[in-house]
This record gives sequence, structure tokens and C-alpha cells, in this order.
Amino acid sequence: MGLFARKPIAAVSDSEHGMRRTLGAGDLIMLAIGAVIGAGIFSSLGTAAAGETLADGTIVRYGAGPALVLSFVLLGAVCGLAALCYAELASMIPQAGSAYAYSYATLGEVVAWVVGWALILEYAVGNVAVAIGWAGYFNSLLSGFGLDLPGWLTHGYWNVKASGDPAVRQLLETAPRIGPIPVLVNLPAFGIVAAITVLLMQGAKESTRANNIMVVLKLLVLALFVIVGAMHIDPANYKPFAPNGFLGIHQGAAIVFFAYIGFDAISTAAEETRDPQRNLPIGILGGLAVCTLIYVIVGLVATGLVPYDQLRSSDPLAKALSLAGLDTASWIVAAGAVVSMSAVLLVFQYGQPRIFYAMARDGLLPPFAAKLDPKTRTPKVTTLITGVCVALGALVADDAATYDLTNIGTLAAFSVVCIGVLVLRIREPDRPRPFRVPFVWGVTLLGAGACVFVMRGLPSSAWVAFAVWMAIGLAFYFAYGYRHSVLRRPQSGASS
Ligand code: ALA
Repeated sequence: MGLFARKPIAAVSDSEHGMRRTLGAGDLIMLAIGAVIGAGIFSSLGTAAAGETLADGTIVRYGAGPALVLSFVLLGAVCGLAALCYAELASMIPQAGSAYAYSYATLGEVVAWVVGWALILEYAVGNVAVAIGWAGYFNSLLSGFGLDLPGWLTHGYWNVKASGDPAVRQLLETAPRIGPIPVLVNLPAFGIVAAITVLLMQGAKESTRANNIMVVLKLLVLALFVIVGAMHIDPANYKPFAPNGFLGIHQGAAIVFFAYIGFDAISTAAEETRDPQRNLPIGILGGLAVCTLIYVIVGLVATGLVPYDQLRSSDPLAKALSLAGLDTASWIVAAGAVVSMSAVLLVFQYGQPRIFYAMARDGLLPPFAAKLDPKTRTPKVTTLITGVCVALGALVADDAATYDLTNIGTLAAFSVVCIGVLVLRIREPDRPRPFRVPFVWGVTLLGAGACVFVMRGLPSSAWVAFAVWMAIGLAFYFAYGYRHSVLRRPQSGASS
């Protein structure tokens, strides 16, 4: 069998060694909202509306202005197309591994590997960005209580190196040193990832319960923002509506796409879902619809509350309220952002080990990654490894670079999933499909094209980083997975 060997869908089955099926449709919608509403809407919204310009005047991206709502509508449509494709494959291939598993069954092993490798950008690298965003809001909450951590404990090394702010760059000189190396770490970002990892190691049931509580809290906080903010909208702020025309809407969409990432994450829970054929499509599409509606309303209120260029900040929603003189509401929203991002961290830290699990079970990663804890039936070892890697990344990384890299990797995976649906329809037209994408040619081709179009709104640095990441991934595949694949070499015994 060659590089494009496909994993037969029939090989997907329940076994007594598998994970427990405890999740229903309601749990999945809650998981989706838990994954989706987070750093994207609370943090990247500001840059999407206002754009980004370097200290020397170089424009990195154009902002959408009040037309940000059109960016959200555009992304809702793009993600809706991809969501339909995810739903068809998730209901046919209800297996841990998400887009990785779907690609293996549709487009073959090497494509599956590339997608699995891209999903590390979505889950693990994305969580580095969310953890840094979480820490930003957490630090401002602490400041509200008069507690200020020193700068060298709240800024990672690469974040300081990338900063255009002289006060932040000064930390390179003033931070304590170990020999020649300045100690610049984001301790709160590290701490939250460590705490979430410990929670997940207790098992999926406890984690989803904690997620449900956090989701309810985040919806209440966004409702507060919308209700209080709507009473203080100044219609003059909506003019000009689209200051940078379609370019701004497009480049704004490419950043704030981060806010949509996650509706697909619940498909990684397929092996822990009851009646996945019914519940997965409901969870994925329902979660996306709810989030799109919320974003459009929040975007409308945020850009109506203050002039759009004042939203450029790491805490734009809290800042918009405080600029409007609504300090108490601003503080509550900041607290809500901290809670919301914790929920996002939880779902992604939950998803990543399950993708590693699926890849290791197929022999593409070493067998230890496919081990389940005998008591909780959860992939404890990979949960720990993911936690350590994400926590270390959050300790030193730059958030802007990780947002861009996450978006490009996720959009690439989405477009492959769209194509995968079409390929499987052609190759296996008679296979039962509990959920069928309507107008399959139009939806799949438009979906894949739309994802590539959004990717093109990202800066060139993101494309370079993506190419380097993929080259490393392919080298790893040919060094390990190619030789240990269970599908192509069943005697290798790497399966659990
Ligand atoms: N959509 C998630 C967030 O905005 C990743 O934090």
C-alpha cells in the first residue's frame, strides 16, 4: 500500500478497550460554545476592527471598522459550509481524531498525517494564544485589586522581543538574568494551563461538567455587555461603516477567524458520544449557529459604543465599556473573559490528546500515545504531554504570531475536510450517510475555496511559519509514521 492508502471506515468500531460513551447532543453544544467563544471575541476583535500598524508606519493588516459585523457574517457562512462537511464525516466516521480521521478514510495516509500535523496548530498552538490572552485579562483583574505582578513574570521572552512598545522592550534590560539570559516568563499563562491539565487528568465526565458551568457564565457576561452597551451606542460611530472597504473586511475576517475555531473540536469527542450519528451534526451546526448570532450582536454593540480605532487593545470589550464610563460593567466583562478563556483552554486541551491518540493507534505516532488510563479510560499520558508543551509555549511565546499560525493551520484542515466529503461521495456513493451535505458539489468546493480565501487575508509571516511547520511534519512522517503505519504494515503491532 502506498502513501495514499485509505483506512477502511469499517475498521472504525466500538471495542471494550475504547472510551466510554457519556456525552449527549446538549453536552456537545455546550462543548462547542465552550471551545468557540473565547480569546477571538474577547481579544482579537479589537485588531480585526482597528487593524495593525507597526511603530515605523508599516501596515500589517487593515481593519474592518464597524463593517466587522460583515466579517463575522462572512466567517459564519465559510464556517457553516465547513461545518456541514464536518457533520457528514463526523456522523459517518464517529471516531476520535476529527479531521485527521476523516482524511485518513477519504484522502489517504499522507494527507491524514498533514492534517493531523496542522491540527496541532489549531489545538496546541491555539491554546498557547488563548492562555496568553487569559493571562492579559487576569493581570488587569489583579491590577483592579491593587496587585501588580512584575513585568518579567507577565511577559514571555518572544512576546517582549516582538513588542513595539518601548516600555515592554525595556524588560530585556531590566529583567533578572540567569547568566546571559533574561528571565522573561508569563507565569499566569503557564499556571492556567497547568491547572486545566490537572482537571482533565481526572477524566472527561468531570471536565464537561466544569465546562457547562463556565459556558453559562460566559453567556451571561456577553449578555451583560450587549444589554449595557446597547443603551450607550452612538450612531455616529458607525460612520464610516467600512473605512478600508472589502480589504478591511477580508483581513479583519482572517484575524477574527480565531473566534470561530472550535465548533469542529467536538468531533474529537465522537468516541465518547452517545448516538453520534444524530448528536454530532446537531452539536456542530447548533453550536456554530448560536456563536455566529452572538458575534454579530457583540460586534455591532462594540463598534457602536466607541470609535472603532479605539478598540485596538488586548481587552477591547472591557476597554469599550470603560471608555463609555461603564467601569463596573467593564470589570465584570473582564472577569467573564477570564472564565470564558478557561473554558476554551479546557476543550482544546481535551481535544489534542485525542488526536494524538488516534494517530498513535494508527501507528503514525509512538504507541505510548495510544495508551488509555485503565481507570478513567482517558488518554492520560498525552493529556500530560500536551499540558507540558502548551504550558511551556505559553510561558515564552508571542500571542500575535500564535494567532496567525493557528488560523492558517485550521483553515488548511477545514479545506481538506471539505474536499474529503466530495471524494468519499464519488468513491463510495452508496455508503450510509446519517447526515448528508446538501448540494454536495457546491457546498464542498465553495467551502474549500472559501477557507483558502480567508487564509489569503493573513500576513506573509504566517505563510512562512506554516510552510516550515509542514516541512518538519513531513520529515517526521517519513522518519517514523511511514515505517510504523498499522494500515500499511499490519504486523508492526503499534495498535492498542
Ligand atoms: N475560538 C476560540 C477562541 O476564540 C479558539 O478563543
